Amino acid sequence: MEKSIFERLIKEVPKTELHLHIEGSLEPDLMWKLAEKNHVALPYQNIDEIKKAYNFSNLQEFLDVYYQGASVLCDEDDFFELMWQYLLVCKQQNIVHTEIMFDPQTHTHRGVGFEVFMTGFAKAIKKANEELGISVFLIMCFLRHLSEQDAMETLKQAEPFYNMITAIGLDSSELNNPPEKFKRVFAEAKELGFKCVAHAGEEGPAQYVWQAIRSLSVDRIDHGVRSIEDAKLIAYLKHHQIPMTVCPLSNVRLCVFDDMKQHNILALLEEGLLVTVNADDPSYFGGYLNENFTAMFTSLRLSKAELVQLIKNGFEGSFLSKAQIQKWTRQIDDIAASI
Ligand code: ADE
Ligand code: ZN
Repeated sequence: MEKSIFERLIKEVPKTELHLHIEGSLEPDLMWKLAEKNHVALPYQNIDEIKKAYNFSNLQEFLDVYYQGASVLCDEDDFFELMWQYLLVCKQQNIVHTEIMFDPQTHTHRGVGFEVFMTGFAKAIKKANEELGISVFLIMCFLRHLSEQDAMETLKQAEPFYNMITAIGLDSSELNNPPEKFKRVFAEAKELGFKCVAHAGEEGPAQYVWQAIRSLSVDRIDHGVRSIEDAKLIAYLKHHQIPMTVCPLSNVRLCVFDDMKQHNILALLEEGLLVTVNADDPSYFGGYLNENFTAMFTSLRLSKAELVQLIKNGFEGSFLSKAQIQKWTRQIDDIAASI
C-alpha cells in the first residue's frame, strides 16, 4: 500500500479504541503541572527527566513508573482534565468510540474516593458525547497484584456508579497472578450484568489465556499475543471469534517482542483471529492509536485489506450494539472503497 493511501485511510476511516488505560494517557506536561498544583513530590527535576525515565525492560519496570505518575491525580478537576485530554486526541485521530480502562485501587488506596474520579470522568465523557460526538464506555479494572478480597471490596465501593460502567477488567503484574485468583469476583461481576475482560498472554503464558476464558468467562482478551504458543488455543480463539486487544507499541516498549518487525499481530490476523489495534498507555509507549498503525505500516508491510479488517474488528470486538456495529462497518466499507 502506498503511504498516501495509508494516510488517507487512517484519517478518513472511523475507528475504535478498546484497550486504553486512562492513567496511561497522562502526558509528562500534565503530570508536572498537577504535581506542582497538588504538592506531590516526584523523583524528577524537570519534564525532560520524566520523559527519560520511560525506558523499560519489562512490565513491572513500567508499572512502577506508571503508579508513581498516577499519584499526581488528586481532585475531580485532575480526572476531568486527564479524560478530556485523551478524548480530544480521539477527535483528532477519528476515534468515534472508545472503551476506556481505569484502575480505582490506584486512587482509593491513596485516599481518593470513587466520587472524586468518577465525577471527573463523567463530566469529560458528557462533554465528549455532546461536543465531539464520541461514545465512551468505561471498564473498571482490578489490580491483580492485590488480593481478590480487595477486588471484591472495590466492586462493592463502585455500586453507586454501576450505571457508568460497562465492563470489569484485570490488569497490573501478570506473572504469578493468574486469572483464576479472581474467579469469585468475576463471577459476581457477571452476575451483576457486567461484561468481562482480562489482560492475559502479555508477559504470562498461553495457559493464562485459557484461564481467563474458562475461569473468568471473559468476553475479550487484552493482549493475548502469547496465545500463538498453543495451537489448540489459537483454534479456540478463532472458532469462538474471541476479540483480542493487541497493543503493538506497548509490546515493543515492554520487550514482549524485540522490535516491531518481530510482532505477531499480522500472523494472528492471518490465522483468522478477531484482532484489534490499541495504544494501551500512549504517553508511556510513544504514541496513540494512529502511531500504532503507523509503526505497523512502517515495519510490517501492512496491506490495505489488513488495515481495513483491523479497523472493522475494532467495532466487531466492541461492546456496541449489533445495529451500531453494522452501521459503522458499512460506513468503513464505503469510505475504504472510495480511497
Ligand atoms: N496497566 C496499565 N498498562 C498495563 C499493561 N500493559 N499490562 C498490565 N497492566 C497494565
Ligand atoms: Zn493494558
